[in-house]
Amino acid sequence: MIPYGKHHIDEEDIQAVVNVLKSGVLTQGPAVEAFEQAIATYVGAKYAIAVSSGTAALHLAALVAGVGPGKTLITSPITFVASANAGLYAGGDVAFADIEPDTVNMSPLALSAALEKHPNTKAVIPVHFAGLPCDMPAIKALADAAGAIVIEDAAHALGASYPDGRRVGCCAHSLMTIFSFHPVKAIAAGEGGMITTNDESVYRKLLRLRSHGINKLDDPFMDVAQSQTNGHANPWYYEMQEIGFHYRITDMQCALALSQFGKLESFISRRRELVKRYDLAFSTLRHCRPAQTSRRAESGHHLYVLRIDFDEIGKNREQLMQTLRKRDIGTQVHYIPVPAHPHYRKLGQLPEAFPNAQKYYQEALSIPVFYDLTEQQQNLVIAALQELVG
Ligand SMILES: Cc1ncc(COP(=O)(O)O)c(C=O)c1O
Repeated sequence: MIPYGKHHIDEEDIQAVVNVLKSGVLTQGPAVEAFEQAIATYVGAKYAIAVSSGTAALHLAALVAGVGPGKTLITSPITFVASANAGLYAGGDVAFADIEPDTVNMSPLALSAALEKHPNTKAVIPVHFAGLPCDMPAIKALADAAGAIVIEDAAHALGASYPDGRRVGCCAHSLMTIFSFHPVKAIAAGEGGMITTNDESVYRKLLRLRSHGINKLDDPFMDVAQSQTNGHANPWYYEMQEIGFHYRITDMQCALALSQFGKLESFISRRRELVKRYDLAFSTLRHCRPAQTSRRAESGHHLYVLRIDFDEIGKNREQLMQTLRKRDIGTQVHYIPVPAHPHYRKLGQLPEAFPNAQKYYQEALSIPVFYDLTEQQQNLVIAALQELVG
């Protein structure tokens, strides 16, 4: 079976994990710090905080942005549910701003309307869908004017860059950016996430929240009397200064991620080659086209999504997916619009309020794109689609 996405693990990756297992330090050791440093340097941000998942990263970022009861988080309807759930975890409300049809990213125009409708918005989470950067200057300007914090969801976008050449994650247009290292993402940690920021107080707060709310670095103690005996610092003393979580990541995961990170450029350039071949092959098809038609040069190419006119091809998406599956070709739909999920409907969301997302959802199909996809396998996918979609 050719899956729609897959990680690539080599002997070097395996050895990196084995080395940690032999080192005696399994968690919060040197690999975590080395991985944080590597990502901060690569994206051009001052600070990076590794956590247990992209979801944990989103939760902490939403809290730092001030989302809570009576406050709103706005994100894109076309994303994985985690981008929106961060607002609910923080005890706030969630609203959505519809996508632009040609990028599948949050539309600044729709964001402007959503901000007007939700004046209590504390966080805006644009999602760099499939690795394609959003129109960040426009989104940042709107959020600033509304007094909201921007958190970039770059779960798909490690290795992507903005039109000015800076890397996604540098936080030039946001207070925080989050990444995911789930196996289908650019690099794999098994599970893992990261938050980047240039703000020292945000960094310190995130460090505390990652580990139970306990003071970190040289955070001053709140209860000085308890921290000392006769003026001497108590060596056992630490303070839980606010409610935090256990969102730490292990050294095994970070050693794997760091080893994978060394291959990031080759992973992305292979994806770029595959995307070019797909684009060329599908350019002559009448009833399907790539979902993202602008600014693809800057993308991390996490997914390759086609938009297919199912009415024209005489079969529905379920039939096409099953036919492809019988030929050992795996496909997926990214994503069911978040407002259409029963939990969000129960909260009062109406998917029809986001017509671009609805239309996109009716037509979308993600086809295989990953480092190990061979030319022969890609040719199989192309031939099948040329035959079945036409
Ligand atoms: C856009 C987006 N945001 C957030 C996440 C959550 O990341 P994780 O699976 O590491 O918790 C994902 C993961 O699938 C995602 O695709």
